Amino acid sequence: MLVASGLVKHYGGVTALDGVGITLDAGEVHALVGENGAGKSTLVKIVSGVVRPEGGTLALDGAPVRFAGARHAGAQGVAIVSQELMTYDDLTVLENLFPYGAPRRRGLVSTREMRRLARPVLGALGIDPPPHARAGDLPLADRQLLEICRALLQEPRVLILDEPTSALPRDAAERLAGVVRRLAGRGLAVLYISHFLEEVMRIADRVTVLRDGRVVLPGAAAADVSLDSLVAAMLGEPEARAAVPSPNSKPAVRRRPSGAAVSLTGVTVPGLLRDVSLAVAGGEIVGLAGLQGAGHLAVLDAVCGRVRPASGSVRLPDGREPRSARHAVTSGVAFVSGDRKGRGLMLDKPLWENVTAVSWLGQGRGGFLPRRARLVDRARGHLERLRVRGDVRAGAGALSGGNQQKVVLAKWLDASPSVLALDDPTRGVDVGARAELHAIVRGLAAEGKAVLIASSDLAELVELCHRVVVFQHGRIVGSLAGARLTEPELSVAMNAGFAGRAR
Ligand SMILES: Nc1ncnc2c1ncn2[C@@H]1O[C@H](COP(=O)(O)OP(=O)(O)OP(=O)(O)O)[C@@H](O)[C@H]1O
Ligand SMILES: [Mg+2]
Repeated sequence: MLVASGLVKHYGGVTALDGVGITLDAGEVHALVGENGAGKSTLVKIVSGVVRPEGGTLALDGAPVRFAGARHAGAQGVAIVSQELMTYDDLTVLENLFPYGAPRRRGLVSTREMRRLARPVLGALGIDPPPHARAGDLPLADRQLLEICRALLQEPRVLILDEPTSALPRDAAERLAGVVRRLAGRGLAVLYISHFLEEVMRIADRVTVLRDGRVVLPGAAAADVSLDSLVAAMLGEPEARAAVPSPNSKPAVRRRPSGAAVSLTGVTVPGLLRDVSLAVAGGEIVGLAGLQGAGHLAVLDAVCGRVRPASGSVRLPDGREPRSARHAVTSGVAFVSGDRKGRGLMLDKPLWENVTAVSWLGQGRGGFLPRRARLVDRARGHLERLRVRGDVRAGAGALSGGNQQKVVLAKWLDASPSVLALDDPTRGVDVGARAELHAIVRGLAAEGKAVLIASSDLAELVELCHRVVVFQHGRIVGSLAGARLTEPELSVAMNAGFAGRAR
């Protein structure tokens, strides 16, 4: 249905695509995978008219096409859900769903018509946001689903999903997989990018692998490709062996905990937390799990000084209470969020400034200013450790999505925090770098830092945590550790709690 061939694209001195082709057939789900920076987003942006290539051709149903822009591609039946969320935060949910003009009745914008069209699509994906809510006020997962709805409402023939589930909880990801399969069943061509390799291979008919701007595996039947060979194709043989963790690698048994580094005592935040007590020792990695709105994320907010308890108290390693976000940072709390656009990075600033920004805040008053060259060197060291591809002096906005996420982490490494508060820290990060980031988090814990982590990726919690505390309706309902800390157990506990079962 859609054929791209010989696509070439450079960004300055960087070759993003070096003669890439792909064929999308009607009725298939085609997976596109590759390391961070391999060129996946660049390819799909070209195919959907967002970016223009320097060379190569596109054909739709056998006829050559040249898209003038995303809107033009949309009119030809090619819709994209891009990796970086593009919701219009100040518009309402309905306005976001119909960006190219709302359906009209007798010349008037018809809200009723919008709701009528949107309802089944929102329903299929399992969300029900208030139609007039401001999109920017919705949780990240809902904004991601909103974008998918927007693309579906265009009734495309070719649907491109660039990491659609990176911020989704598991149930929503499963619903989306069902929707995608149904669409393919109706004859759509779906191109699906993801770093969740098992997930994407489960729904894909074929798979294409990109490495360094070239196709290394073109449209192979998904059933014939093992996960190992997929990872090897993505990373190259030797790297793959080094990067991929053994399936059940657990953190090393910790040293004797040195008392609580972070503690919450009877913390109540109206509407978010009810009488929550939790202590995390230095050296411990504690997971926070729950369904949307369960309160687990509010714990991170309380530790990071973004919400103040109405009653109860939060204590940081220096014995003080986080009075504000800034105060928490100067007390040694690092906050890494998967929402890098909103909270993580200054996209127009060079990498080295991003990486060294926090330790500045921490050193704050009194200290003398380190020389710029030293800062640049320090930043380069962190970025090399995380294998970020990009020049330290280049703007953060020019990095691929996963590489941006690594920069968010690098910035906190630079600040040498005593507490790590992580919220979906590896969102959009490739398997190799994910293993790397996990190793770093384990290393920091082994140095005695206290780690709190929430993640929509349950496998991440199971792999990384000593124990996972489960929340429902703002309360702790139990915790899982040791042999009981498995994905299925965790999923059951999040949904059904621990009723009738031993804690
Ligand atoms: N707007 C831009 N300006 C400069 N360089 C860019 C730009 N967009 C992409 N690049 C570069 O092109 C290369 C490919 O990036 P791309 O975003 O396509 O990777 P990707 O495979 O989608 O990675 P990820 O898994 O991290 O999303 C990277 O080296 C990236 O830094
Ligand atoms: Mg990308």
